[in-house]
Amino acid sequence: MEEKKSFLIEKIDIKSPNKNIVPITSSIGSDGKLSIGGCSIEELVNKYDSPLYILDEATLRNSCRAYKKALEKHYPGESLPIYASKANSSIFMSNLISSEGFGLDAVSEGELLTALKGGVPNEKIVFHGNNKSDKEIEFAVNNNIKVIVDNDYDLERLEGISNSLSIDLEIMIRFTPGIECHTHEYIRTGSFDSKFGFGIEYLDTLFARVSNTKHLKLKGLHAHIGSQIFELDPHRDLGEIMVNIIIDAKKFGHNIKELNVGGGLGIKYTENDDPPSIEEWVKTVSASVLKACKRNNLELPTLMCEPGRSIVSTAGITIYKIGAFKEIPGIKTYLSVDGGMSDNPRPITYQSNYSACLVNNPFNINPKNKYTIAGKHCESGDVLFKEIELADCKTGDLICVFGTGAYNISMSSNYNRIPRPAALLVCDGEAEIIQRRESPLDLLKYDVLPDRFIKQN
Ligand code: LLP
Repeated sequence: MEEKKSFLIEKIDIKSPNKNIVPITSSIGSDGKLSIGGCSIEELVNKYDSPLYILDEATLRNSCRAYKKALEKHYPGESLPIYASKANSSIFMSNLISSEGFGLDAVSEGELLTALKGGVPNEKIVFHGNNKSDKEIEFAVNNNIKVIVDNDYDLERLEGISNSLSIDLEIMIRFTPGIECHTHEYIRTGSFDSKFGFGIEYLDTLFARVSNTKHLKLKGLHAHIGSQIFELDPHRDLGEIMVNIIIDAKKFGHNIKELNVGGGLGIKYTENDDPPSIEEWVKTVSASVLKACKRNNLELPTLMCEPGRSIVSTAGITIYKIGAFKEIPGIKTYLSVDGGMSDNPRPITYQSNYSACLVNNPFNINPKNKYTIAGKHCESGDVLFKEIELADCKTGDLICVFGTGAYNISMSSNYNRIPRPAALLVCDGEAEIIQRRESPLDLLKYDVLPDRFIKQN
């Protein structure tokens, strides 16, 4: 029988981590077990328990550097990569991306505060959102953070604040370019029916409106067309469309100096995925902006992009411990793990696929069993893998799920009052906690029993 090759045998592309399933420091120790960042996964679980989120620092930094280097190589003007912190927001992540020279995009006061606490300079933070609260807008303005105007409501409030304080405010505006791309409909944002940003047909009216304000200065233009995208054409088209809009805005007296193309580059979750490299993506965007600027004799704007998933997803893994087995003869065998939809809601939300291996048999030698990997939540749909082939395994063995750095911890919940796992950073054989494990008691912190109920009991 031909032995099935493990994805762990594939050559690792250290320059563009999004092209690998596994973190770039993945290796198999002399004991035949999985190690990441020089740390034995089994030892980490013995010390920190499971489930466990782990981030590999080398993979994170290589992803950041790939964006920085590619922008320097392919775009002769100024540029600033901005990390989309919704992918994985923490004081640690803010600090790391800032140390790599990145800016940060936030969509709530919580994300803004996290960025500031992590040391991201205010001038490198942008504030997004289709329904910002008054408090959030004030927080951004008071902290000199640039607001990306998403709609008229944002504009009215910023105009009001700038007039009442008699200060000039630099703004960016977000528009929907009407570009379709092939990704899950929930994570597609650039089409005309999107809830985000101004319709392209409304932009002239908007430019005229902004010109009539006393203190709002239109500094930049933003668009984001979607997430987990493998095609390059949508971003090539976007660069060109945005340059044309900058030219159009000149008729209204606006000199737009910043062009932010959003994020969206996909990553390799499974062997069926083949995303472009970070360099190819940056090169495509840069070339299209450059070409359009040259043709129109336009001074090069500062080029910004907002990657989230392609910075952090491949750096992250989640480790689970196997618990119960349930065999339904002739139908399927369930293998249940100690986490599930509360630490990774993507499979149940988007039917997302991942890759996984056994920590003590990473090459998956003799994968003769088909399992459905179920989470521990009270929900039939709480299934992490509908079908996966694994070698023999038993209760207590560890499973490593790859590609969980983005939109896992940031979208996690406490469904069924299950505490969130701890998150570790690994580097050169050392592991450090970057988020402490919650305890069931932590989950009671915000519960309140009104006095009259206490008296009754
Ligand atoms: N910029 C803006 C304005 C965005 O809305 C997003 C993602 C990004 C940048 C970063 O996109 P990325 O490079 O990560 O593709 N929860 C979904 C993904 C939602 C993406 C939302 N916006 C998922 O788990 O797939």
